[in-house]
Amino acid sequence: MAERIPIASDHAGFELKQHLSKALAELGYDVEDLGTHSPSSTDYPDFAHPLAEKVEQGEVKRGVLLCGTGLGMSYAANRHRGVRAAVAWTPEIAELARKHNDANVLVLPARFVSEEDGVRILRTWLDTAFEGGRHEKRVEKIEATGHTPAEGK
Ligand code: RB5
Repeated sequence: MAERIPIASDHAGFELKQHLSKALAELGYDVEDLGTHSPSSTDYPDFAHPLAEKVEQGEVKRGVLLCGTGLGMSYAANRHRGVRAAVAWTPEIAELARKHNDANVLVLPARFVSEEDGVRILRTWLDTAFEGGRHEKRVEKIEATGHTPAEGK
């Protein structure tokens, strides 16, 4: 069965979302478009939270968000437990976000990437595995808010 991947944007990311949804479908994914569905002005948290909720609840493994800079979407998505939303504006950053940070939400700064680069970034993020190893405990520590281990431990 094809992996379901939710995708969502605000108005600033709308055009690129349409393009990337098509690319995802062509790659064989079951695309769930959570909006926005037109270029009319919207508020990015209204789209980030429902998508992040699905990742937090384990309903889906990963998802894609877009807004103008990628920042607002990442702030909202990263409020959810277990969500690691990474803004990536080059394939290299997308690759490291997977290898080192196990990013389960890709956030694209739609006003700063072309359609071609958007697809490259998306494909790299989709196809790159988490390296684990020394990165494992670092990623685990992300959830450990309020706990700072003593130096040297
Ligand atoms: C919308 O104009 C813009 O502020 C939004 O897409 C995003 O860049 C916020 O972080």
